[in-house]
Amino acid sequence: MTDSAKFDTLLVESRVFKPIKEFSKGAHIKSMAAYRKMYNESVRAPAKFWGKVANEFHWFKKWKKVLDWKEPHAKWFVGGTTNISYNCLDRHLTTWRKNKAALVWEGEPGDSRTLTYQELHREVCKFANAMKNVGIKKGDRVIIYMPQTPEAAIAMLACARIGAPHSVVFAGFSANSLKDRILDTEATAVLTADGGFRRGNIVPLKASADEAIAECPSVKSVIVLRRTNNEITMKEGRDHWWHVLMQTASADCPAAKLGSEHPLYILYTSGTTGKPKGIVHTTGGYMCGTYLTSKYVFDLKDEDTYWCTADIGWVTGHSYIIYGPMLNGATSVMYEGAPNHPGPGRFWEIVEKYKINIFYTAPTAIRAFMKWGDEHPNSCDLSSLRLLGTVGEPINPEAWMWYRNVIGKKKCPIVDTWWQTETGTIMITPLPGATPTKPGTATLPFFGVVPDVVTPDGESVGPEGGGLLVVRKPWPAMLRTIWGDDKRYRKQYWSDIKGCYFTGDGARKDKDGYVWIMGRVDDVINIAGHRLGTMEVESALVAHPDVAEAACVGIPHEIKGECIAAFVTMKGENRKNVALEKELGQWVVKEIGAIARPDYMRFSAALPKTRSGKIMRRLLRDIASGSDQVGDTTTLEDVSVLQSLQQYQDE
Ligand code: WTA
Repeated sequence: MTDSAKFDTLLVESRVFKPIKEFSKGAHIKSMAAYRKMYNESVRAPAKFWGKVANEFHWFKKWKKVLDWKEPHAKWFVGGTTNISYNCLDRHLTTWRKNKAALVWEGEPGDSRTLTYQELHREVCKFANAMKNVGIKKGDRVIIYMPQTPEAAIAMLACARIGAPHSVVFAGFSANSLKDRILDTEATAVLTADGGFRRGNIVPLKASADEAIAECPSVKSVIVLRRTNNEITMKEGRDHWWHVLMQTASADCPAAKLGSEHPLYILYTSGTTGKPKGIVHTTGGYMCGTYLTSKYVFDLKDEDTYWCTADIGWVTGHSYIIYGPMLNGATSVMYEGAPNHPGPGRFWEIVEKYKINIFYTAPTAIRAFMKWGDEHPNSCDLSSLRLLGTVGEPINPEAWMWYRNVIGKKKCPIVDTWWQTETGTIMITPLPGATPTKPGTATLPFFGVVPDVVTPDGESVGPEGGGLLVVRKPWPAMLRTIWGDDKRYRKQYWSDIKGCYFTGDGARKDKDGYVWIMGRVDDVINIAGHRLGTMEVESALVAHPDVAEAACVGIPHEIKGECIAAFVTMKGENRKNVALEKELGQWVVKEIGAIARPDYMRFSAALPKTRSGKIMRRLLRDIASGSDQVGDTTTLEDVSVLQSLQQYQDE
């Protein structure tokens, strides 16, 4: 789908679904009037609003000032000290929630574990001490490269407990990607496992970690969880088994008293240029933001069993598997594996097994389920579900309707939540008991969020106008900087539109003020809800000794939303070559990870460029999408390049 086609499908969407009466009755926010009132308060007096939220938490020392804003730097709850691990765990231990399930975990092979708040607290304290015992201390960066196991959650909460910022690296990333992240954070420790399960296979995590760490002199200690029992090598003096350290670790570990702006984590995400950016999130503001969004967007109640299917390697896993739900004292379900292992009904079997009430997933998964067939969800009892959510990319109205009808049986509200790694929390979203929804739009801003759709000059567009999505006011969970590169932070987010945070997304506001996200306006591709810069894939390709030049573009894909089309100029011959396509595909997997493997590859002696030498990606997109007509070619330097690429396609 080209951008204009996307625009068209959205424009014809006119269905409106009013909140379900029964749902509204029991919801935290019961009506639009209630939403409006609270929203207005939140933007009129943000310090009062967020101060009240922060008061629900434990502070070792109370803050002096709610917000200190010097564009583009925000400090929230200045002067206060707290600990998010304490507020996720210890705070519940003096209440009836002490023995409530905090984490319900399902392993891919079918094993399962439940940890109550008390049990999770004990494990976190012990592991925090285990880390201290190998020399990890406050301020040290700790890389977490682990399968989706309870220990991954324990590791995050233990890091937070001692004030060692964690940086979770998605277990699907290659040794190379891991290395880049270790080098950029200058981490002193890596937490990993012998392996992880993926569709029944073992992903050799420790072997990749060894390869990466060999080139990272900052790493002093490695802690290894035993998960898959595959053979690995342990390096004397550097590597420690998780279970061995835990045997002697004390369960007494008071939470560190951390400044509200103490860095909680660094999470890497793709941008348009260069290496992924280390997004820095801090403590107090992030705590308030993840808590409040979880409560109101998911209408979270103590009785709920809540399941977010994300991976902890992405921001959704941070904010909405771990921190947000646990700050609410909720029961959070975590699943280790693939949605279609051992069969395409796995997610629905999990919903039935744990009687899931709230289910949060991504449009790419929904499209895959649609393709796999209704019989899988239909053969499970999904009657426990009361709310459905989606995140990661624009959801096409057809998938939205399927989600509503087949999964929600028309009785569950859908919350389409727009946000980013940078925003830390959900920003634009319906509130399930209040907001009338329309398939394909994330609707209206959450409390305290002031988004706008503007022209490149920063002027608000009128109703039905399209433009750039910005945020006009600071919010508590916003990113604070890019790790080690504040200049890039300013340039990337605060220089395009004066006085605003620029999201990189294009959007349209309809007559009701609903925001319709149109996708990225830059060279970031959204593959199955995962952001990847075209630059990263191009750099990986060009790193191959036989490749002279490469250009990558995103093209529509039925399930993944978008996929990568790569145009490559080899140093030698340039013809269709299936073996070479495969080799380069594997090369990219090794450099970045399997999500970056191009779905489409063409070899060409030259790439279409403007006279000033800029690759014309727009034309490549047209060619790769198989459209007969390519756009304006008047600025093209050499038209024959285009012709040869088009003929290639006809072969
Ligand atoms: C896109 C994921 C439309 C958007 C939490 C954004 C969405 C990028 C939605 C962030 C949505 C996310 N509707 N588009 N509901 N949610 N996006 O950093 O382009 O992995 O800028 O954060 O995903 O991706 P990220």
